[in-house]
Amino acid sequence: MTSMSAILPVSPVGTVEQVSDNQLKRYADLVYERTGIRVSPQKKMLLSNRLRRRLRETGIADFEEYYRHLTRVRSNDPEWDAFLQEITTHETYLFRDESQWTWFRKEYLAECVAEARGNTSPSLRIWSAACSTGDEPMTIACSVAACLPNLTQWRVQIVATDIGVGALEQARSAVFGERAMRLVPDEYRRRFFTKAKDAQIWQAKPALTSMITFRQHNLMEPLRDRPFDLVYLKNVLIYFDAVSKRKVLENVCRMVRPGGLLVAGAAEGIADMLKGFVRLQPWLHRRP
Ligand SMILES: C[S@@+](CC[C@H](N)C(=O)[O-])C[C@H]1O[C@@H](n2cnc3c(N)ncnc32)[C@H](O)[C@@H]1O
Repeated sequence: MTSMSAILPVSPVGTVEQVSDNQLKRYADLVYERTGIRVSPQKKMLLSNRLRRRLRETGIADFEEYYRHLTRVRSNDPEWDAFLQEITTHETYLFRDESQWTWFRKEYLAECVAEARGNTSPSLRIWSAACSTGDEPMTIACSVAACLPNLTQWRVQIVATDIGVGALEQARSAVFGERAMRLVPDEYRRRFFTKAKDAQIWQAKPALTSMITFRQHNLMEPLRDRPFDLVYLKNVLIYFDAVSKRKVLENVCRMVRPGGLLVAGAAEGIADMLKGFVRLQPWLHRRP
């Protein structure tokens, strides 16, 4: 059996090494500059653990050398992707925040159907910003497939973006475990997913995946695309401070078409920052 000391850097007194306060601050500044995420001093242990994984993978000797490596390589270097994958939170699952999805199916999509009457090729464009492993855009696709009659007449585009390359790779595979699927109604499982024979793994069918385009995108930068009817920005700004929240909102709000809607997480803390939007629910905002 491999001893722990063979895996983890240890200090001279034998305790598992952590980043120093100075290193924590420099790493936190680096992460903030790149992503807008604030790494708090309470995350010292977590950051140290995640960094140790990168040291093991890369063979880089210590935290100091790894920091220098990140500052030397270009921002699109694969090591930056691997580092960000380690330090960001990817928690997500299908139909997370159920009441929002009830609203989406029963009110939003019902309204879309009513407005589309008489239109021979209606369209719907939705952006899932910070989509993680794809559970949110898959929930959108699932709801759309279930609720839009004559779906073939519709041009539905779901653009799903995230900063994390690893998360996007998993998202593109469209495979979900039982935990991620726990809130998916049985009827939707049967209609839109194929279950692997011997495992609790569900593969989304092309009827869903064909609606979604995945792209890497940093919310701190503008998205190059046309405005959307509806934008989901959920459970991501909780990790940002006020300055970077404002920057993200500047980029995101201009991608909501006039009359379009922004769905945020209930705890995102952005209501006062949404200048010119009308608040319909604590999590739902309309661009006039
Ligand atoms: C907790 S997940 C939220 C997933 C999904 N929206 C949900 O509500 O279930 C947060 C995601 O935000 C992404 N993220 C963090 N900072 C980002 C940034 N600056 N630009 C784009 N995505 C970012 C992370 O990679 C992560 O996948």
